[in-house]
Order: sequence, then structure tokens, then C-alpha cells
Amino acid sequence: MLAHVYSCAVIGLDGVTIDVEVDYGQGNPGRITIVGLPDEAVKESRERVYSAIKNSELAFPRKPITVNLAPASVRKEGPAFDLPIAVGVIITYNQVPQATVEDAMFVGELSLDGSLRHVRGVLSIAAHARAEGFKKLFVPEMDAAEAALIPDIEVYPVKSLSDLVNHLTGGEQISPANARDISSSLEINAETDFSEVKGQENIKRALEVAAAGGHNVLMSGSPGAGKTLMARALCSILPRLSIDEALEVTRIYSICDMLPPETPLIQTRPFRAPHHTISHAGMVGGGHIPRPGEISLSHRGVLFLDELPEFGQRMLDVLRQPMEDKVVTISRAQGSLTFPANFMLVGAMNPCPCGYAGDNLRQCTCMPAAITNYQKRISGPLLDRIDIHAHVPRVDFQKLSSQRQGETSETIRQRVEAARQKQIERFQNTHLVSNADMTPTEIRQYCQLDDPCQQLMKTAMRQMRLTARGYHRVLKLSRTIADLDGVENIMQHHIAEALQYRAKDQE
Ligand SMILES: Nc1ncnc2c1ncn2[C@@H]1O[C@H](COP(=O)(O)OP(=O)(O)OP(=O)(O)O)[C@@H](O)[C@H]1O
Ligand SMILES: [Mg+2]
Repeated sequence: MLAHVYSCAVIGLDGVTIDVEVDYGQGNPGRITIVGLPDEAVKESRERVYSAIKNSELAFPRKPITVNLAPASVRKEGPAFDLPIAVGVIITYNQVPQATVEDAMFVGELSLDGSLRHVRGVLSIAAHARAEGFKKLFVPEMDAAEAALIPDIEVYPVKSLSDLVNHLTGGEQISPANARDISSSLEINAETDFSEVKGQENIKRALEVAAAGGHNVLMSGSPGAGKTLMARALCSILPRLSIDEALEVTRIYSICDMLPPETPLIQTRPFRAPHHTISHAGMVGGGHIPRPGEISLSHRGVLFLDELPEFGQRMLDVLRQPMEDKVVTISRAQGSLTFPANFMLVGAMNPCPCGYAGDNLRQCTCMPAAITNYQKRISGPLLDRIDIHAHVPRVDFQKLSSQRQGETSETIRQRVEAARQKQIERFQNTHLVSNADMTPTEIRQYCQLDDPCQQLMKTAMRQMRLTARGYHRVLKLSRTIADLDGVENIMQHHIAEALQYRAKDQE
């Protein structure tokens, strides 16, 4: 008899229902033929399914089997179809009634002995199954906790094929995994606390503004000034992830197979610090089976590019489009894929090749042309997308050796969260998340200036030769600074502070 079993493919971050049809075919008994655009790993299912059924003490039909994976237009990758194919074969041979699998979806890789192995992307699969109205989802035991993050669908952890057949035929039942309340598990990434950073009050303030409005930051300064240290501390003042954000981020990590098995939920904002030798695909995503790159792995978190000029102009230029669109599009033979990429860019660099240009203690040994060339490695359009430029001076000995504890990350984060709350209310019915996302339309709406502020902006534009983009940047930053201040109207001192965060030699 013809068997129908539902499974799921993952394309990009989204699930696609796959109808697995199994029927008797032509040829030698014991042979399985798979049609419907399978890749090599799917073709290898034949051997695994055959052995797993045999070794589970189930009978294999004494006829050849044909498996069709529909729709044929979707490319099937990986070993996750082993389980639905095996279930289909077993139904065909009347060992399990077709009716028991009608409202269920199956994914899992089989070992030759019939036990189940981990598959990636289970969170996307569970979300898709629920959206499509499936009532049950059967997954390998080790992936059940991840799938159970999605509410309103029964997730069954399957240890082995024979356990599953027992369950389906009314024998010993598998109990569904418990749905988890995840709201209490969201945490702060607190590896480095701001109180550990001595002095540097201005830079800490700049990072607080950046965190409050989601602005990109570039820190430049001499070696050992504490740039890397402070970038790492930034995560500890960012607001907690919301549940939806945590699930979005977890989905990306699930696709990349980067979830820790014990805690299948990403609970803190990601902090990614790729090395400058990273490949193009590693940074933006891609590859034979397209995977998200670093810019998607830092979605809702921080992408830290230390020694920014070393990344090279080509690499930095590919960041421009995702920084604007908050998503990255990867084209491939079967059409393009989109991954989310809404990250805060934090760059750190030395001002020149020797590192000491502008240092108050040590002489810079670079030729002026070398300094210009070094700084030119970061293109204008990229710099234009970075709202905050901060020069990090060297901390003097007195401050470094002082015992005085600065403000803790906890205290700073409370101010950041209050400012973010204002933005959540402001952008309620839009797709915007923070002030940094505002386009000129929103800037016009939310950054209105009174006469004295207008006057100040006018003078600043003339004296500092601000471009139109620079002007908008100052307004966005002023908005964030006013939000941190807890006031509705932008005031002169907010603008004055925002003006300090522009690049000295830009515009
Ligand atoms: N303000 C500070 N408070 C406490 N420790 C500091 C401070 N600045 C620097 N340090 C110490 O100096 C070390 C070097 O700092 P860091 O690596 O952040 O410098 P950097 O600016 O990134 O330098 P480079 O340009 O060489 O990358 C840190 O590990 C930290 O221990
Ligand atoms: Mg450094």
C-alpha cells in the first residue's frame, strides 16, 4: 500500500513541508530508490533505513521500495529524512496503520542499529510544524528540548525506531517533552563588567549612548588603551533579549549546528569577534549548502571587528548592504536566501600603522602618507554608517592603579533599558527597533528641534561642515541622548554631546 508521511526541509531559516510517499516499486527485493531532488546524504538514507529496520527486528518488505520526496522542486539535503522514510516503509508493510501518522511530522537521522541521531534546525522545523497545524512532532531524543521551545505542539523524543513503532502501534507510549517557560532564563552576557574598566569616562559614556540607541561605534586609539576590553564589556550593558528575539537568534544557531546540547536556547545577546582573516562566506554567509555567516550569528547582538582596517576594503564594503537592510541575501542556483543580520557593529582600530598617532606620550613613527593610506582602508560609506566615533586616549597610571570602583554594568544597563523602553513605545507600530534604525522620514517626525536647537545645528553645520548624512546622524544621536535623559524634547546640550561623537577628519 502507498504510505504518506510528513517531514520538513529547512531552506535558509524556514521550514518547508515535505510529503514522503513510499510505495512498492520495480526491481530487486530489498532495494530502495529515492526520487525528488535528493542530495548525496539523502541517497545514503537507503542503506541506513534498510539496516535500521532489519536491526530493529522489524520485517523489511520482500519487494523493492520507491520513495518520492515531494515537492520535487525543493532540494532535499542532509540525513533528516531517514526517520520519515523508515516510518513510510513500515506503514507500507502494514506494521503501522497509516491513520496514526496523519497529524504528525517526523525528522531524524538513523544509525544502522535503529537509534536516532541529532539533526540541525529543529527549532525552525517545530515552528513550521506548528504554523502548518500539525499536532505532533517526532524528533531525535536529544533535539526534543530545542523543539519544545515552540509552544502548542506535542514534541515526542524518539530514542529508536523500535520505540517509535511501539508507540504508534499502541504499545509502550513515549511521553511528550515538557514545554519550557523560557522567559525566566534570559540572561545578560556579563563576561567583562564596566566597573573593571578604569578611567575612560568619555568612552564609557559613548558606549552607553551606543547601547541605548543601537548605534554602531568605532573606537580608535593607541595600543593597550583598552579598546578590546571595553568592546567586550559592551554586551553587559545591552538590554536583555526578548523571548521572540531569543527564539530568532536560537534559530540561526540551530541551523549552523552551534547550539550547546544542554541549553538549547540562546539566552544572551551574541558577541561575535571574527578574526580579520575570515573568508567572505564566513562573514556574510554562503557555501554549498548556504549557512549564515558572522553577521547573522551576531543578529540582535554585537559584531566586533577588532583591528578594523586589517579586514580589507572589500570585506568591509560587503557589510554596507546588510548594515542598511538588517538582512543579508545570499544568491545561489536555486534562488536566493535571506538571513537576518541586525547587529550592532563595534570596530576598534589604531589610528596609524605604528599605532601611536595622536598619543600623548609616545611619538608616532609613521609618514603622513602612511597614516592617510591606513585610514583610507575604511571607506567613507562605511564610516558614514557608524554613528559614534570615539578616540580612546591612554589611561594614566593614577587612574589605572586607583582602587575606586566605577559604575557597574548593572547600573548602566538600567538606564539603557529605560531609554530602550521609550523607543519600543515610539516605534510600536513600525518595524524599527531603536533610534539608530530611523530613516530621514522618522527623523523628521521624532527629532523636532526648537529654535535655539535649530540655531545650534545651523552653526554646527557651517563650522563643522556637516554633510546631510552627518546632520541626520547628529539628530539620531541627540534623540538617544534625550531618551537617556528621560525627556521628550531634544535640548541644546543633547545636540552638543552628539556633535562630539563625529569623526574628527570626516565631513
Ligand atoms: N581603562 C582600563 N582599565 C583597566 N584595565 C585596562 C584599561 N585599559 C587597558 N587595560 C588593560 O590593558 C590590557 C590591554 O587592553 P586592550 O587589549 O583592550 O587594548 P587595545 O586598546 O585593544 O590595544 P590594541 O590596540 O593593541 O589592540 C587589557 O587587557 C587590560 O587588562
Ligand atoms: Mg585590541
